[in-house]
Amino acid sequence: MKITKTSQSRISEVDFSNLPFGNTFSDHMLISEFSNGQWSEPEIKPYGPLSFTPALHTLHYGQAIFEGQKAYYREDGSIGIFRPEANAKRLNHSARRMFMPEFPEELFMEGIRALVDIDREWVPKAPDHSLYLRPFMFGSSEFVAARPSEKYIFCIITSPVGPYYAGNVKVKVEETYTRSASGGVGSTKCAGNYGGAFFATDQARKEGYTQVIWTDHKDHQLVEESGTMNIAFIIDDTFITPPLSDRILGGITRDSILTMLRDRDYLKVEERPVQVEEVINAAKEGLLQEAFGMGTAAVISPISTIGFRGTDYEVGTPADGYAMRIKKELTELRSGAAEDPYGWMVQL
Ligand code: COI
Repeated sequence: MKITKTSQSRISEVDFSNLPFGNTFSDHMLISEFSNGQWSEPEIKPYGPLSFTPALHTLHYGQAIFEGQKAYYREDGSIGIFRPEANAKRLNHSARRMFMPEFPEELFMEGIRALVDIDREWVPKAPDHSLYLRPFMFGSSEFVAARPSEKYIFCIITSPVGPYYAGNVKVKVEETYTRSASGGVGSTKCAGNYGGAFFATDQARKEGYTQVIWTDHKDHQLVEESGTMNIAFIIDDTFITPPLSDRILGGITRDSILTMLRDRDYLKVEERPVQVEEVINAAKEGLLQEAFGMGTAAVISPISTIGFRGTDYEVGTPADGYAMRIKKELTELRSGAAEDPYGWMVQL
């Protein structure tokens, strides 16, 4: 791999005690180009602009996918990247569905290790902080004919981050707009899934909510996701989350939590369709113990209010509840305070 180091690090300009999510980028990035059916040898070079003409394919037709993952500072002074193989696999799942070339997993792993290693001073040390890693791929041909791009760029940039959402979230059950439909691209991390969600989210914000709970496209009776995250409810000491489908993103945080909970015995676990009605009835009867989003950025994001057809239902967010216990257990595995029986941390 070709590596060109920056001659002037920007790290001394960064206030590590104030890191709004995704605003600051580390010194280096990794880049590889696909043309004539082949990926070029990845190159690490100083973070900086890419240049294109206005005919850039992705600006017109949106063959654009991304990943989100994190590297953590560990108690023993090492750096650990959380489940990077899972991100490499999911990137390629998105690539296949978006008719883009797959990026070889070994190159992804080698590249992400080398990039984090070169910028290891950028991994924040404070609790709840990490280096957010953003691999992405986009069509980089320069033509406006409506056919697939012939060239692609794969790039990884990294960003030191603090906690994603400040505090608990108020969510509204969305019954007008839809994030995804059967047969669509909801299970991918394509850019359009996020761009397409901003309008509905803004409408909810105007009504005083932080995010929406996405429901199924057919009749909005099934809970699917929350904002940019998977969602789970605790009802009757049972952790309940909707099953994966082609409408729901296979969250790596979601999968990690399911795996850990199945190995413990403090909560029953159910992965099954969740009716909006069931959640609202549980809330009315005081049986909805907790609700939260699960994602890479926020890890766990407790939901304090669920708005449904004009009524707000309060949900408990106990400091010693299940959500915080699960988050603590994940945090301890990542920091090295607890065992990593699954071999999830790739250490540098
Ligand atoms: C996540 O929750 O990890 C996301 O996908 C958020 C990202 C779009 C910033």
